[in-house]
Amino acid sequence: MKPIIVIGEGGHSKVVQDIIAAEGIYEVIAVLDDKYDDVFEKDRVLIGPISYAEKLIADTDAVFVVAIGNNQVREQIARILFEAGAVFEAVVHPFASVSPSAVIGTGTVVMAGSVINADAVIGEHAIINSGAVVEHDNRIGDFVHVSPGAVLTGNVCVGAGAHIGAGATVIPGKTIGAWSVVGAGTVVIDNILDDVTVIGVPARVMKK
Ligand SMILES: CC(C)(COP(=O)(O)OP(=O)(O)OC[C@H]1O[C@@H](n2cnc3c(N)ncnc32)[C@H](O)[C@@H]1OP(=O)(O)O)[C@@H](O)C(=O)NCCC(=O)NCCS
Repeated sequence: MKPIIVIGEGGHSKVVQDIIAAEGIYEVIAVLDDKYDDVFEKDRVLIGPISYAEKLIADTDAVFVVAIGNNQVREQIARILFEAGAVFEAVVHPFASVSPSAVIGTGTVVMAGSVINADAVIGEHAIINSGAVVEHDNRIGDFVHVSPGAVLTGNVCVGAGAHIGAGATVIPGKTIGAWSVVGAGTVVIDNILDDVTVIGVPARVMKK
């Protein structure tokens, strides 16, 4: 199995590690998180601070996945690791339904029960969470999080870093601006600008 290093050890990381085990392609050789100061071994897995990645990049041919749920933090750490020479891989649960014509960027995590339909293009370091639906021809930017049970109908565009809350729905052809947040359960029927938070049915701007 190919070696993989998981960055982050919170709740999201637990799910990502389960996906890696279910996929059966990669073996986790290290889990790095800045809650640790020192490097140690636990159950044959190296545990330590994220700065230890530099040594692992130099000494191993392991790939990386950044398993941090917060979009801003995931972006920041992915960029630092990329500049240090890290190579990222997408991690896709075997019980996700992914069209052969869909494109999934490196570092992206696709969870169980999600559906990614024809000609959807997903950027890098995105999260398609459990049971989310990304319909045909969607364009999903880098560092986006589509939360559990959210439904992006056909031809939706989601800008980089946006967060689509759990159970939210976006009707066809609408655009969600970069780094915007769509609250849980929101129904989006109009385009949403960059850097705003929207809530409600139909969606209204809560804060800019
Ligand atoms: C929209 C959201 C980001 C707002 O968070 P916040 O800024 O901390 O907002 P608050 O909790 O202070 O709520 C502010 C107001 O908005 C309302 N509100 C918050 N979220 C709402 C939602 N999803 N739908 C409708 N109203 C909502 C609150 O009731 C409150 O109303 P009030 O001022 O009349 O009392 C957050 O509530 C949300 O929905 N996040 C998505 C979480 C999610 O799906 N995570 C997935 C993890 S896997």
